[in-house]
Amino acid sequence: MRGKARLGRRGLLAAGLCPVLARADELGLATLAQARGIVFGTTLTRGQVEESGEMRRIAAADAAMIVPGLELKWAGHRPSPEGFDFQDADFMLRFAEERGQAVRGHALVWHEALPPWFARAPRDAAGMRALLERHIRTVAGRYAGRMQSWDVVNEPVEPWDRRADGLRDTPFLRALGPGYIDLAFHLAREADPAARLVLNEYGLELATPEQEARRVAVLALLRGMVRRGVPVQALGIQAHLGAAARGFEPSVLRDFIRAVAGLGLEVYVTELDVTDRGLPPDVAARDAAVARSYRAFLDAALAEPALRLVTLWGISDRYTWMNDSRFARREDGLPVRAHPYDDSFGRKPAWYAIAEAFRAAPMR
Ligand code: XIL
Repeated sequence: MRGKARLGRRGLLAAGLCPVLARADELGLATLAQARGIVFGTTLTRGQVEESGEMRRIAAADAAMIVPGLELKWAGHRPSPEGFDFQDADFMLRFAEERGQAVRGHALVWHEALPPWFARAPRDAAGMRALLERHIRTVAGRYAGRMQSWDVVNEPVEPWDRRADGLRDTPFLRALGPGYIDLAFHLAREADPAARLVLNEYGLELATPEQEARRVAVLALLRGMVRRGVPVQALGIQAHLGAAARGFEPSVLRDFIRAVAGLGLEVYVTELDVTDRGLPPDVAARDAAVARSYRAFLDAALAEPALRLVTLWGISDRYTWMNDSRFARREDGLPVRAHPYDDSFGRKPAWYAIAEAFRAAPMR
């Protein structure tokens, strides 16, 4: 065994020496995850599906769940205050369902990806309430029974906004107060009795003072919601990681997941990716560091049985949101290598790191 370990996984595979790992290589990430009781998937957009047979191939091979990346955001289906256009969202649900994949909805309420007309929408409490009611009833109602889960409110916390409750200052909050979050969950539950209802947030995984403040605010918010009987069932940890970032402490992440589970909630990893921003240009070194970050994060998260679902925010470097993000893109202008497949759809060390993390994870 020692000798095999020294040879390394790729060496073993190349030499055909390890049937178990060789099988893992053929199985796909969703199958490996499923063997541990974990659902695995990725975000995907209609544009990617239509443009790339390779994307269709790896989505089928590796994902048991699809998260439409744009199509269920307001900007994706609310062309006008009165109108809904579900062509792209319907396309994505059909695509997933034809392949037997589950779907997560993202997101019913978010302060970003709002259509231009939103700037002119009513800002008084009654007007905003009517807007949210109509939106959530229509969208969650349309797909009722077909969504595994919905991100009901995305990114509601921002300690930098300096409110005592740590909530983000958004148009929804300004019009309705903190109660907009409870309202959104109640509306989602009425419209879709079956979907798991999720509060989704970023910046929760590092042992830094900023992220500690975010964890504290999220826990306080969830605790209050549970106490008030609000139908929230899971916390989504986005997990946009950085391979050059400091401050990852497995025990801090695990304690946080346990604290959420202690409220009776599940925990999902909803948008996992690893930017290589801040690393030198060398490709092999970047790929190794990115893979290590996936592995370290997943090892810690998957050690907690409350963690039931992992979805990536991108599966191939060909289609990454990160080159356009001022937080994730590289300062030297090189394309990021953040995802498990490279831009020609070859598997990178990150793919093997994720596979190994699932193989090592305890059974649910
Ligand atoms: C990103 C999309 O992937 C991009 O295509 C878009 O330009 C910006 O939004 N957190 C979220 C996701 O909750 O919805 C974001 O998706 C990435 C950060």
